[in-house]
Amino acid sequence: MQTTNETIQPITADFLPLEGTDYVEFYVGNAKQAAHYYMSAFGFQALAYAGPETGMKDRASYAVRQHKLTFVLTTPLRTGNPVADHIYKHGDGVKALSLRVPDATLAWEETTKRGARSYMEPVRLNDGDGELVMSGIHTYGDTVHLFIERKNYKGIFMPGYRAWSNPHFKPTDTGLLYVDHCVGNVNWNQMNPWVKFYEEVMGFKNILSFDDEDISTEYSALMSKVMSSGNGFVKFPINEPAEGKKKSQVEEYLDFYNGEGCQHVALATNDIVKTVTELQSRGVEFLKVPTTYYDDLLDRVGHIDEDLAPLRELGILVDRDNEGYLLQLFSKPVEDRPTLFFEIIQRKGAKSFGKGNFKALFEAIEREQEARGNL
Ligand code: FE2
Repeated sequence: MQTTNETIQPITADFLPLEGTDYVEFYVGNAKQAAHYYMSAFGFQALAYAGPETGMKDRASYAVRQHKLTFVLTTPLRTGNPVADHIYKHGDGVKALSLRVPDATLAWEETTKRGARSYMEPVRLNDGDGELVMSGIHTYGDTVHLFIERKNYKGIFMPGYRAWSNPHFKPTDTGLLYVDHCVGNVNWNQMNPWVKFYEEVMGFKNILSFDDEDISTEYSALMSKVMSSGNGFVKFPINEPAEGKKKSQVEEYLDFYNGEGCQHVALATNDIVKTVTELQSRGVEFLKVPTTYYDDLLDRVGHIDEDLAPLRELGILVDRDNEGYLLQLFSKPVEDRPTLFFEIIQRKGAKSFGKGNFKALFEAIEREQEARGNL
């Protein structure tokens, strides 16, 4: 397999036009505290709440927002329901990568007729602010894609939710703007079937491939393919483990998540130095690369606008594709299991990814993996 890096070509008849990520929903053990963490540490604002008070008897959900980025934290109120079962099996993690579409009924029809397994038939939700249509399909593991059509809805989030705010707690934002991409970890030999799923069922293109020689460290390896929607608004890289001397970090994820799932969500900023400085001061922990990473950085990536000193200080990585460069940094897992983490990314022209950072990232994860005794 060869590394390829093709320019994203608009496809002519997009049967699944996507307007971007609508929201990411996390199933967590304690949504009240998780919402507080994303507000205090990541700079989100309270937006909307649903629970017994709004007619939802088995769960509570908190929606928080920062610019175009919306997270929903959902927790079960009792055992014996799908939210509780999800947490019992996986711990905290991403349940839904929800996508904004012009027509959620059509999105469901077009994807299910191409082989997607239905998660939710189109439903029309109404309240005094209009009508929101949603539907959904399964993807890897227990993760789902929800299709959200909100062109006839003017409410604060969606029917079933009420406005939620706390006048005494409004942490400043950290400059996080929107979801850049979401990465899935899948089982051995399952990367290509999921690539095929995104191609055939959702009309995505494979824009970049990394084989196990591109992404191998001294001990472990993995493979990755980047899938992109026709307009490039939605990108879903897919990783699978590869054979190495020791256990792949994708395998460690699969062990602790108890199956396939979302490995990381990448959040875009226009000023990564400012954003990461702010996140770090609020307690978000990041992976560190050895300072030698910066010794020959400019030889590898060419001219960059930023000063090197703050990048080195914060451990921010720089890489290049054939259209420009990008700056990125990865958090440590945001729960005790070595599963979900976040990436902070600033794009300066680059629309895909470079392979140098993959290696630096996976070496950094491997050092943490070794410290956990799972290598
Ligand atoms: Fe990423």
